[in-house]
Amino acid sequence: MNILIVDDEPLQRHLLGGFLKKQGYSVVEAANGNEALTRFLHHPIDLVLLDHRMPDMNGDEVLARIKQHNPLARVIMITAYGAVDTAVRTMQLGAEDFLEKPVDLEKLLARIRTIEEQLYIADDVAAVTETIDAEALPVRMIAVSPAMQQVLSLALRAAPSPWTVLIQGETGTGKELIARLIHQLSPRKEGPYVTLNCAAVPEGLFESELFGHEKGAFTGAANRRRGVFEQAHQGTLLLDEVGELPLTVQAKLLRALQENTICRVGGEQPLSVDVRILAATNRDLKQMAAAGSFREDLYFRLNVLTVDIPPLRRRKEEIPALIRFFLDKYRSRAVFDDQALSQLTKYPFPGNIRELEHILQRTITLARSPNIGLRDLPPEIREYRGQESEGDLNSRLAEMERQMLIEALERHNGVQTRAAEALGISERVLRYKMERLDVGKKN
Ligand SMILES: Nc1ncnc2c1ncn2[C@@H]1O[C@H](COP(=O)(O)OP(=O)(O)OP(=O)(O)O)[C@@H](O)[C@H]1O
Ligand SMILES: [Mg+2]
Repeated sequence: MNILIVDDEPLQRHLLGGFLKKQGYSVVEAANGNEALTRFLHHPIDLVLLDHRMPDMNGDEVLARIKQHNPLARVIMITAYGAVDTAVRTMQLGAEDFLEKPVDLEKLLARIRTIEEQLYIADDVAAVTETIDAEALPVRMIAVSPAMQQVLSLALRAAPSPWTVLIQGETGTGKELIARLIHQLSPRKEGPYVTLNCAAVPEGLFESELFGHEKGAFTGAANRRRGVFEQAHQGTLLLDEVGELPLTVQAKLLRALQENTICRVGGEQPLSVDVRILAATNRDLKQMAAAGSFREDLYFRLNVLTVDIPPLRRRKEEIPALIRFFLDKYRSRAVFDDQALSQLTKYPFPGNIRELEHILQRTITLARSPNIGLRDLPPEIREYRGQESEGDLNSRLAEMERQMLIEALERHNGVQTRAAEALGISERVLRYKMERLDVGKKN
């Protein structure tokens, strides 16, 4: 467990830190409120021991900002002896507990152990959820693989909470579907559900799209217009493709999220809004934040809970169920023979479920009979060299090797060093094999 100790007195930090390290905890220290927040953003912290009285920012404020970044963070407030009202307020602000100064180390250890247990239990509960019947959900979808069951379990637990959920996954994996599901399962389901596709908004119009504008606010603003925040009042707002938000807009969005108020463009009055935010992206926001193309504070604000949707090639066992699902959706009587099915299961589907859906649409529209065989499949699938290709031992081994290289490279986003490491070979050998087995950049 990682513990952050926040105190302006070096001696106090030294004392607590030394004690906790001896107990086997890893400890990060901060000497004031600002430092605490910075540390909190850069380290995976499970528990914060927070001195209430500090020169730059008082403990209440630090606590509030920590909870804003991560409502699940645990905080024990350290208050002056006898400051009961401070302690009560602290608990209302979401601290787990408070301890009076001077800190009784045995008491502290007992509290930490309790919190540790709670953390383990939460992990366990998450791990052993029973199977979720996707047919009973308010959104129609297939989720039979263990990976998707896990996604559902997370979505089900996230839905009733007010927290922001960041939904990540490659294109076509079902991010919007999961967002709609979370809304439908939330206490806001009767409220509006509004989506803003950040990739489709011209840079100059973002502010107006988000917050609305007053009549005459800029050329072309003939009428007053409500932005998506106002439209989603008492409901849910999905910021889709959130990685495409320009940095200038990110700052304004962050302010709106922190204060729960917006200002229409050209308006004077701040309006308070009550909106639950979901965000979706197919980009690696964490990496973007590290590279400076996405604000780190906004990333943490959006990423309170994360749902990662695995690509279809990692849950191929769902392909038959998905085919049935889509045939049903299009009221098709088509039947796929074994060969066609098995060829479909070999294909890696870079466009994921959307690609599968389009392929099925094309296939059933163009097929001459309802009995679909290999010849009816689109060429990119029919001609895909699957893992179990024909041939003698050597050529089959080569094919298997080739697939392993492709998969390792894919899994590590084309980073050869990592792929080589995962395969247990050197980078030089990897490059040699790539050359020999015709594994190109497009893989
Ligand atoms: N598990 C599923 N079961 C049934 N249909 C699904 C499932 N997941 C996705 N789909 C369907 O696949 C299509 C793509 O899903 P969606 O639009 O949610 O993907 P996305 O991740 O938002 O994609 P993009 O990144 O391109 O916006 C939709 O038609 C959706 O209904
Ligand atoms: Mg989408």
